[in-house]
Amino acid sequence: MSHRLCLAALCLFVAAITARTTGVIFPVGITATEAAPAQAATPKPATPQPAGAQAPPAGSGYAGNDSCLKCHDQEETLKKTPHWQAKNPRSPMAAHGCESCHGPGQAHIDDPDNLKIRKIKEMTPSESTQVCLSCHNRGTHAAWEGSGHERRNLSCTTCHSVHSPKSFEHQLVKENETAVCAQCHRVQVTKTERAVAHMPVREGKMSCSSCHNPHGSISNVKNLKVGNSVAELCMSCHTEMRAPMLWEHAPVKENCATCHDPHGSSNDRMLVVRMPMLCQRCHVATRHPASIYDNNAITVNKSNRMFGRSCVNCHSNVHGSNHPSGQFYMR
Ligand code: HEC
Ligand code: HEC
Ligand code: HEC
Ligand code: HEC
Ligand code: HEC
Ligand code: HEC
Ligand code: HEC
Ligand code: HEC
Ligand code: HEC
Ligand code: HEC
Repeated sequence: MSHRLCLAALCLFVAAITARTTGVIFPVGITATEAAPAQAATPKPATPQPAGAQAPPAGSGYAGNDSCLKCHDQEETLKKTPHWQAKNPRSPMAAHGCESCHGPGQAHIDDPDNLKIRKIKEMTPSESTQVCLSCHNRGTHAAWEGSGHERRNLSCTTCHSVHSPKSFEHQLVKENETAVCAQCHRVQVTKTERAVAHMPVREGKMSCSSCHNPHGSISNVKNLKVGNSVAELCMSCHTEMRAPMLWEHAPVKENCATCHDPHGSSNDRMLVVRMPMLCQRCHVATRHPASIYDNNAITVNKSNRMFGRSCVNCHSNVHGSNHPSGQFYMR
């Protein structure tokens, strides 16, 4: 009995794999008429030909840039971008030029009115993204598939424009990165404009992508760019917090965002709530040890030591201590 089940499972598995591979061979939404039979035989853009190899072999379905330019002027904008740098062997210019992205164009040239060519803007997000992923699928883009943005049907062209970018740095559809993100993440962008968003985001020295990779993250949550946790991301810049501490404060190792809002807040040091409430979310106020000044009234706001920085007047090393008697983070 169990053998049969295994066999059935194996068959399903093989069927699934076959279905998947066929899917991979034709990932892009080209209709049967566009998919000139020769396309399968010619190298994909991912394996570009050496620079200058633009004159396509006859019968490949590719017509070459020169023919496109007889009717279209898109080269003007492309010239200023990395896509048109023939000296880069990975660029479209070094491969099939216009046709690296739009697909073989001979059929379209023979019959322009019936448009037998990829209109990238009108393709579904996953289809149009495949065009770009044929070259941009490694390094910082390796985690695109499965990322929050991919799952919610964004495409590369949601944020980038190949022909008419508003910002030539990274070819964005808006004049700068924050404006791109603000279209959908108003809350986070607004926070960076609050009173205490100390990170120089507003000044343009830091941006959303200092912490996030909009193309997804392999190892971290929330598209965070580096590390395996929020704390590791923060410590990549705030290195003084990284050292192993003799006396660690549990929430600090766990998640900096328990106390700080990385995007900004109205409290000092971007704290999520004011002191002393910040600490009192976890530490019971009435149980504070008595001191010679205040008896046990310290945390009920009757103490004259609870001014300004409040609890951290005394517990000044809340992030942990290396002092032999620093167990209360006071030194
Ligand atoms: C004989 C003139 C001619 C040539 C040569 C030509 N096209 Fe076109 N192309 C057209 C016409 C006409 C349209 C339809 C324009 C419209 O509907 O606004 C078009 C439309 C397109 C579109 C869709 C535009 C859109 O609105 O989304 C793309 C992409 C395109 N061409 C790419 C190419 C590429 C790449 C080449 C070279 C392989 C090429 N064309 C060669 C005439 C030409
Ligand atoms: C790197 C990929 C890529 C290359 C190379 C490329 N295109 Fe495009 N093309 C796109 C994308 C993506 C769009 C959708 C609009 C955008 O992102 O600007 C587009 C849109 C178009 C359009 C529609 C009108 C418009 O501007 O929106 C035409 C026409 C066109 N391309 C022609 C060309 C021609 C001609 C060439 C070669 C000179 C070329 N493309 C090279 C990706 C590319
Ligand atoms: C034939 C390969 C190829 C294709 C297809 C391709 N690109 Fe590129 N792209 C490159 C190369 C090469 C560069 C130069 C940077 C590099 O070497 O990674 C580049 C650079 C870029 C840049 C960075 C520009 C900058 O100034 O920093 C963006 C953004 C970009 N591509 C977006 C796209 C999008 C969106 C698509 C799909 C519509 C696309 N690319 C399709 C090869 C390609
Ligand atoms: C949510 C917006 C967004 C989406 C979607 C997006 N990008 Fe980007 N991309 C950016 C921003 C912002 C930058 C500049 C900051 C950075 O490098 O992370 C950038 C940088 C780039 C660069 C240049 C820097 C580098 O990492 O090489 C390339 C190439 C690129 N994107 C390609 C793509 C491709 C291909 C896709 C689709 C798979 C895509 N992008 C989807 C926002 C986006
Ligand atoms: C067109 C809308 C749109 C744009 C533009 C956009 N995002 Fe997003 N983003 C989304 C959506 C939708 C989600 C929701 C993912 C979910 O909750 O499933 C998301 C999720 C995220 C997340 C959380 C990821 C996670 O795993 O929970 C981060 C971080 C993020 N975006 C950063 C950015 C940055 C940085 C930019 C600008 C470069 C940007 N986004 C631009 C729509 C957008
Ligand atoms: C200093 C680093 C940093 C910067 C700069 C930053 N973020 Fe974040 N972001 C984070 C961290 C850390 C989280 C996860 C917070 C958490 O888990 O509570 C996050 C979470 C998010 C989320 C997911 C929210 C959710 O509830 O799931 C979005 C969306 C987001 N950020 C967008 C942005 C945008 C847009 C910008 C630029 C205006 C930006 N971030 C700048 C560190 C940063
Ligand atoms: C238990 C709450 C808490 C956690 C968790 C926490 N912090 Fe803090 N942090 C504070 C408080 C309170 C201050 C203000 C200290 C002061 O005013 O002297 C502060 C201040 C800071 C400062 C300002 C400079 C300084 O040393 O006063 C930085 C930078 C900082 N924290 C980074 C981090 C990083 C990075 C993490 C995660 C590794 C983290 N914090 C986790 C409570 C916390
Ligand atoms: C890309 C580098 C970078 C990353 C990553 C980073 N920060 Fe910062 N952070 C800075 C810079 C730069 C400043 C400004 C330092 C200054 O003004 O001296 C700063 C300042 C701060 C401050 C002090 C604000 C004040 O009032 O003085 C706090 C708190 C802080 N960061 C917390 C965090 C937390 C929490 C994270 C992780 C979510 C984080 N940072 C990630 C670069 C970074
Ligand atoms: C998210 C919960 C949380 C927050 C917020 C928090 N702590 Fe803690 N704290 C802990 C935990 C858990 C311990 C470890 C308790 C243990 O080991 O018995 C601890 C330990 C301590 C200790 C040492 C106590 C001991 O018995 O060793 C001090 C002092 C302390 N915290 C002060 C603070 C101060 C000051 C703040 C506000 C800046 C704060 N804590 C915010 C969870 C928190
Ligand atoms: C006047 C200085 C002072 C202030 C202000 C202060 N503490 Fe303390 N705290 C101490 C001292 C001293 C001890 C250690 C007592 C001992 O040696 O047992 C201590 C111990 C603690 C402990 C460990 C308690 C235990 O049972 O071991 C915690 C938790 C704590 N403080 C949290 C706080 C919080 C939260 C605040 C702000 C609401 C705060 N403290 C404000 C001086 C202070």
